[in-house]
Amino acid sequence: MTIKSIVSINGKLFDREAAKVSVFDRGFLFGDSVYEVTLTHNQKIFLLDDHLDRLWLSAEKLGIEIEWTREKFLVEIEKCIQHLGLPRVYIRIVVTRGEGEIGLDPALGISNNHVLIVKELPENPKNWYAQGVHMIVADIQRTSKKAMDPGVKSGNYLNNVMAIKEAKERGAFDAIMLNYKGQVTEATTSNIYIVKDQKVLTPPLQAGLLEGITRKTLIDLGQRNHLTIHQEDFSAGELRMADEAFLTSSTKGIVPITKIDETAIGSGKVGPLTTQLSEIYQNFVLSHS
Ligand code: PDD
Repeated sequence: MTIKSIVSINGKLFDREAAKVSVFDRGFLFGDSVYEVTLTHNQKIFLLDDHLDRLWLSAEKLGIEIEWTREKFLVEIEKCIQHLGLPRVYIRIVVTRGEGEIGLDPALGISNNHVLIVKELPENPKNWYAQGVHMIVADIQRTSKKAMDPGVKSGNYLNNVMAIKEAKERGAFDAIMLNYKGQVTEATTSNIYIVKDQKVLTPPLQAGLLEGITRKTLIDLGQRNHLTIHQEDFSAGELRMADEAFLTSSTKGIVPITKIDETAIGSGKVGPLTTQLSEIYQNFVLSHS
C-alpha cells in the first residue's frame, strides 16, 4: 500500500519524491530544529493550539526565532489537508534554524526552513489496544535536563533512536528510558504511566521527559472524572511490579503495556483503569472530531 502524502516547504507544495531541503540546512547537519506531530480526525486538526504552543516553547529554549506566525501555520497545514482530502492524516511540523556556512555557531543559520509533512494515517493495529504491547527497559539513558533537555521537542532524537533500536533487536514494541538516577522517564515517542493499588502514576517533568499534549490532556480529564493521575517518580523495579501500565501519544492515543522485558504486567491483560481512562480519552477525541 502506498501512503498518500504531500510536503510543504516554506509554503510550496511538493510530492514526496521532489521534497528536498539543502544539505547545508542545520536541521540536517546538527538536528538544529524543532518539530511537532499531530493528526486530523475527520479532517479537523487535533489540538493544534497546544502543539503550536509547544513548538514555540521548544524554539524559545533553543533560541530559534520562528519566522512564520501561528496563522500562517494554520493556513499552510489546511492547504495540505485539503490537497489530500483524507479524513485522517499525520501532520509533522518542522522548523529548522536555517541554512548557512558549516559551523556550530547558531548565528550561521540564516532564515528558517518551515517544513510540513502531511500523510495518510491508517488506523493503528487493533491488537495494540486489545492485547497490549511488549516494552523493554533500555540500557541507554534518557538525556539529563542539564544536557539537551528532553522537554524540548528538537530534531535531535538520536538518544531515542538508539533506545528503540535496542527494543527492535529484542523483538519489543518500544523502549522505556531511565534517567541517571534510575527513575523511569518515558518511552521513545510516548509518555508512560503505571497503576499500583488503584493509584495512577506518571513521572514528573523534573524526571526529564517531554510534556506530552496527550499527557496534559489526560491529567486534566482524570481530574474532571475523579481519577487523579499523580506525578511521582518510580523505578524500573516498581514499573515491573505495577498492576497496569500504559503509554500515551498524539498518534497512538492510550496503548496498554502488558509485558516489560520478560515480566508480565499485572495479570498480563489490559487492566480496568487503563480501559476506563481509554474510554474517557476516546470520548474526548470524539468530541473534538
Ligand atoms: N512523539 N515523549 C516523546 C519523547 C515524544 O516524542 C512524544 C511525541 C511524546 C508524546 O507527546 P504527545 O502526547 O504530545 O504526542 C512523549 C510524537 C508523536 C512523534 O515524535 O511522533
